[in-house]
Amino acid sequence: MSDNHDLFEYKGCNFISNIHTTEYLEELINTEIRDDDVIAVTYPKSGTVWMQQILTLIFSNGDLAAVQNKLPAERVPWVEVPTLCFLTLPSPRLAVSHLPYHLSPEGLKKTGKVIYIYRNPKDVVVSLYHFQNYITLLKTPSGFGEFLEMFIEGKVIYGSWFDHVQNWYAHRNEFNILFMCYEEMKLDLRTSVQKICKFLGKELDDEKLDTIVKHCTFEIMKVNPMANYENVESKSENGAFLRKGIIGDWKTHFTVAQSEMFDKLFEERMKDFPLKFIWDGK
Ligand code: A3P
Repeated sequence: MSDNHDLFEYKGCNFISNIHTTEYLEELINTEIRDDDVIAVTYPKSGTVWMQQILTLIFSNGDLAAVQNKLPAERVPWVEVPTLCFLTLPSPRLAVSHLPYHLSPEGLKKTGKVIYIYRNPKDVVVSLYHFQNYITLLKTPSGFGEFLEMFIEGKVIYGSWFDHVQNWYAHRNEFNILFMCYEEMKLDLRTSVQKICKFLGKELDDEKLDTIVKHCTFEIMKVNPMANYENVESKSENGAFLRKGIIGDWKTHFTVAQSEMFDKLFEERMKDFPLKFIWDGK
């Protein structure tokens, strides 16, 4: 059970009291999935908003109006947030989700497409720490050290990072799924967008691809008030949904001892996990 009063536990995963409901989570398991549904699945702070931007622009054929008038969550909602009405969207439904494997819709195993984005967990915990300091909805952490412990123990939103990544990967053969990492997107966004297009069966000419890549860069998204969720209720002016958008910010937060402890744990918990991790942006 989480120590946070802002969270509640449902089937081994932590959800946000003011957003999620057990009734809806139960309903989702058996919801119908359509052939053309596309769901980007992430553990929080691994590139969800980025995928909302990328998917919108791919499906609008690079039409920028699509990312200028509506918030990302209104175009590409979170599956598990009842008020965002994923269930009644017209096709093709584009969505994001942080659901762990065991709570995702069963129907996804038969049809639809999943893009799973994972990110270096040291950068994930740093990003989540700042997010909780920023966003009103979540409890302010007392300090990075304590927050890191909670992250390791899975006492944060959506539970354990290790379980999330490993379970989705272990069950990959049940889905039509593409795995990508945040860092490869950051290092070569063009190739990453091409890879996503290929998976989705979308063809874009070079000019459209260039437009999409440009408008999915951190720098351009950061100055788009829609992409940066500037209307979100926040605790202070100092912060942003799109914070730094870099690889390796963990180096400015982890002590040497914390880093060594985390590396050891990572080695133990992820030893049978074959996907590559990029820890450094250079
Ligand atoms: P930082 O806090 O490290 O800056 P999510 O959308 O899953 O909540 O993830 C948010 C993280 O993704 C934030 O990380 C945010 O800045 C980063 N991000 C969002 N869009 C990005 C982009 N276009 N390029 C690089 N990082 C991006």
